[in-house]
Amino acid sequence: MLFAATLSLLALPNVWAQSSVADAYVASESPLARAGMLANIGPSGSQSLGAFPGIVIASPSTVNPDYLFTWTRDSAVAFSAIVNQFALGIDTTTRGEIDDYVASQVIVQQIPNPSGDLASGGLGEPKFNINETAFTGPWGRPQRDGPALRSIALITWANFLLSESNTSYVTDTLWPIIENDLNYVAANWNESTFDLWEELNSSSFFTTAVQHRVLHQGVSLATALGQPESLVSNYETQANFVLCFLQTYWNTAGHITANTGGGRSGIDANTVLASIHTFDAAAGCDALTFQPCSDLALLNLHTYVDAFRSLYEINSGFASNEAVLTGRYPEDVYMGGNPWYLTTLAVAEQLYDSLIVWNSQKSLEVTSTSLAFFQIFDSSIAAGTYASSSSQFTSLTGAIKTFSDGFVAAVANHTPANGGLAEQISNTNGTPVSAVDLTWSFAAALTTFDARKGVVPASWGAKGLSLSCAGEPIPQTVFCDFQRRCYYYFWAYVYPLFLAICRLMLFGARIENIYLTGSVDALEDWSTETALLMSSANYPIWSITVTLPANTDIQYKYINIDGSALTWESDPNNEFTTPASGTFVTHDTWR
Ligand code: NOJ
Ligand code: NOJ
Repeated sequence: MLFAATLSLLALPNVWAQSSVADAYVASESPLARAGMLANIGPSGSQSLGAFPGIVIASPSTVNPDYLFTWTRDSAVAFSAIVNQFALGIDTTTRGEIDDYVASQVIVQQIPNPSGDLASGGLGEPKFNINETAFTGPWGRPQRDGPALRSIALITWANFLLSESNTSYVTDTLWPIIENDLNYVAANWNESTFDLWEELNSSSFFTTAVQHRVLHQGVSLATALGQPESLVSNYETQANFVLCFLQTYWNTAGHITANTGGGRSGIDANTVLASIHTFDAAAGCDALTFQPCSDLALLNLHTYVDAFRSLYEINSGFASNEAVLTGRYPEDVYMGGNPWYLTTLAVAEQLYDSLIVWNSQKSLEVTSTSLAFFQIFDSSIAAGTYASSSSQFTSLTGAIKTFSDGFVAAVANHTPANGGLAEQISNTNGTPVSAVDLTWSFAAALTTFDARKGVVPASWGAKGLSLSCAGEPIPQTVFCDFQRRCYYYFWAYVYPLFLAICRLMLFGARIENIYLTGSVDALEDWSTETALLMSSANYPIWSITVTLPANTDIQYKYINIDGSALTWESDPNNEFTTPASGTFVTHDTWR
């Protein structure tokens, strides 16, 4: 009997075994990951090495690399996991840690540091010493995802406490911390930032995505707490702008461009992490917020995973429908450039989140955008909506579950017996590399395991959002990704030839006067005196509509006139050819 069972198991495809590896790993690693994470929280965590109460160390590693600091990002990611589990009743033993974290962040927010003080940008400081003093060495600063992630964690906690009628603690203790973070996000989201990997200073998808989420949540919480209408409406206005900006990261090559600067491919775990950190099951597969099962996020995931297949020696020999180990981004050279535990787990988590939604909505949509992703599992699948009663739904979701489990199994295969999760996995021999016992790796394991079990985090209000990237007057500014989306463009039917130019200012803190000038009469023949003033009604987007000659090659540039100072965009000129009839819309970013 036993022998027969063993034989049939061996006869099953290799990938099947991965689900049983994942089952066993979830069972054994869950308590170890939980313990590993709590061990890194001061003052009583066994590895916290003198960290003050509620302070989370990134890792107990003190050399190569020295991670014995507290990062706002890593700490918030850990506490998001802890607070979610508490609020959902999965683990309600952590109240002491949560209270300590809250108390510690009151202090940390006030520490003057190289990014500034509380009122002058200090909230963007990425990391502090574990005794709650400033880290003053050189670093990639500011990192503007930190305040957003921290307030996401604290708002989850606040909403839970409100549901338990603990309004006074929320109002008196949590709200002041949250409000500081929200005001920082509202005021600074369009300023450049170092990315979550602390390397590139530009705009970064992960940062923008979590900023959008928290501004949106800020509207609801501030309203619930009776905060002034002016504050609420500012969060709302900024959230709308941020959602518009978020759309601009889509790259028609089939992925989200993780950073606006840096000159890399743009393929980056940044985008997968953004999707899982903004998951809202109530929003279904909405692509505006890049929900895990949205077609954009699925195609992005496919592009991301495939970028690592032939990159790492350790990934060789796996078929295209089998999981591999993934890293931060293909060009990464940090510690040799290796797969990471938390990024490989993020792939699984995005797919488990997707399965939660497909199973609950009882259908799955394959669009022309997500087709390439679904064809991994069924090369003959066609675009369409497949109800849960269909054989396609059953086979696709089954195959995707197996695929997801493969990423967990890959991590399992490189986890030492004590369950410790380092930062990285050697790209050649699979041994742990870089910081040991990384808090974020443990947190990633816990949230991935929960998603695998079907745990649905609290909604943050992503459902039913729409873009309103322009107010009055019409014509509205349009964001198109040229592949599939174009919004609110009815003036296109009114004018025979129509040019709308909008310009996205990423780095301007205040409203500036932006003009358009170019190579034809309608664009003032390169004049700077009579250049066309663009509307900033939809700041930080400038727009203008111009009637242009048909079939004509047009060159143009934007200029910034500030009193007597005139700044031209850098070369070369922008250029396009007008169509024979109809409209042409272009979106440019100031160079
Ligand atoms: C330390 C940062 O934490 C890491 O993300 C980065 O890759 C290295 N410095 C190299 O810049
Ligand atoms: C380097 C990672 O790139 C960064 O995201 C993280 O915050 C720090 N290490 C600390 O874990």
